[in-house]
Amino acid sequence: MLDVNQPGLVLGIVGTGTMGRGIAQIAAQSGITVRLFDSRPQAAEEARANVGAMLESLAAKGRMSVDEARAATLRLQPVQSEAELAGCHVVVEAIVEDVKAKQSLFARLEGIVGPDCLLATNTSSLSVTAIAAGCERPGRVGGFHFFNPVPLMKVVEVIDGARTEAWVSPALVALAKRMGHRPVRAADTPGFIVNHAGRGFGTEALRILQEGIASFDEVDRILREAAGFRMGPFELLDLTGLDVSHPVMESVYEQFYQEPRFRPSYLLRQRLAAGLLGRKVGHGFYSHEGGKQQPVSTPAVPHGERRPVWVSADETGWRDALRNIVTAAGWTWDEGQRPSAESLCLVAPLGRDATTTALALGVDPERTVAVDLLFGPERRRTAMTTPVTRPAFLDSALTLLAADGTAVSRIHDSAGFVAQRVLATIVNIACDIAQQRIASPEDIDAAVTLGLGYPKGPLAWGDALGPGRVLKTLEALHIATGDPRYRASPWLSRRARLGVSLLTSEG
Ligand SMILES: NC(=O)c1ccc[n+]([C@@H]2O[C@H](COP(=O)([O-])OP(=O)(O)OC[C@H]3O[C@@H](n4cnc5c(N)ncnc54)[C@H](O)[C@@H]3O)[C@@H](O)[C@H]2O)c1
Repeated sequence: MLDVNQPGLVLGIVGTGTMGRGIAQIAAQSGITVRLFDSRPQAAEEARANVGAMLESLAAKGRMSVDEARAATLRLQPVQSEAELAGCHVVVEAIVEDVKAKQSLFARLEGIVGPDCLLATNTSSLSVTAIAAGCERPGRVGGFHFFNPVPLMKVVEVIDGARTEAWVSPALVALAKRMGHRPVRAADTPGFIVNHAGRGFGTEALRILQEGIASFDEVDRILREAAGFRMGPFELLDLTGLDVSHPVMESVYEQFYQEPRFRPSYLLRQRLAAGLLGRKVGHGFYSHEGGKQQPVSTPAVPHGERRPVWVSADETGWRDALRNIVTAAGWTWDEGQRPSAESLCLVAPLGRDATTTALALGVDPERTVAVDLLFGPERRRTAMTTPVTRPAFLDSALTLLAADGTAVSRIHDSAGFVAQRVLATIVNIACDIAQQRIASPEDIDAAVTLGLGYPKGPLAWGDALGPGRVLKTLEALHIATGDPRYRASPWLSRRARLGVSLLTSEG
């Protein structure tokens, strides 16, 4: 049985590019001897120099002592041939993302390393099972998927291939912990956890853009300033580059046999063809100068006329919040059961669009504006019109909602506004990952917070929003569009109906 905590553990790293260097750094920092091999002559030496410099700069910043940095650098041993990996207990490959190259590397290594040596792959998009299939003993192969930059992204996916033996994943889990990373276990499926769970954010935002609901910058503002994401989806697409993100979107979609939830957008293919790759070329959704994203001007708040305000927000419990906004602005609150003939009608639907809500309440759609306060009335507010809302009534609503200085976004009619819709999609996909037993609910949330930097894990976030509300949003979207991408995962609908947490596993 492989003991990865033994003091004399020797780790081989093949492929000393971006990922190999990062893995080498955290391994050396945790007292592990690292042999570095790369097929490009000098690359392993360069990697040692590069990681050594990283460690030195950590010491200069006081993050480790000079002696520790020196000792860690001495643990990095570049080797000139694969044969010199013979004594390794574990070998991690971080070579080119090509199944044949990885298969033949592992097949060669089997003839070099001892019988108990674990072979791990850092692949992000290939099947661990397929890589292992080239080996005589595929049972010793496991997935060990780190994120870039490795020292800062403190999560690693540990993946069992179809024939991985039972000792492999526990050994990788223990090795991850030794290196100070949070291991999450995932079944060998497209995108594992992080790249699977991360599909919702961009694809739903693109869908919203494609439907003409809001501009790309407005979607970004809403998701950043209301929902609390660090970056908007279009900022993220620009940062990653469409040449990277669009092929990943297409690949995950195809690997899941055209699952509608992951359907990519023609908008990206077109922009890719136009060379609007993002920050690296200076033009993406935003323009970038000197690597800096240029601001997009926001529409000025109009000077709308004051009118009495009638509110229906019982289903969401946002009536008091809206009343406070109306009274704080000194506008007249229309107390009537039915709106008066002059009143602005504010509705606050959950999941449904403004049109459906106005018609269900029997209020005039020409005077109706829907408001989303899902993330709290003090955060950016979203105002949504029906196709026939009169501009004067919209102006009044925008003036009122911005009266206390809170930012307001204006969007067109959409079941679930922008934020409800994107969040519901993210929660639904995470629920389906749990439903397919790809990972445990706790590991899904840990992988997403650490790997994608979302403010909350998607399942905990679904709990905070209310599983019933998320389900309602998806059902409304499904009805409004007829698109099966919005069908609710059975994991979500059962837990919502039972009134239990989305983190509830089945015994
Ligand atoms: N860059 C990322 O953000 C990221 C994140 C997670 C996983 N990955 C995966 O990690 C792996 C490496 O990615 P990277 O970004 O570090 O690539 P990279 O291009 O920076 O480095 C790859 C290195 O492997 C070497 N190499 C190629 N074929 C080899 C072979 N047969 N034998 C020995 N060395 C060989 C190259 O010379 C190069 O130094 C890929 O499988 C990739 O999908 C990358």
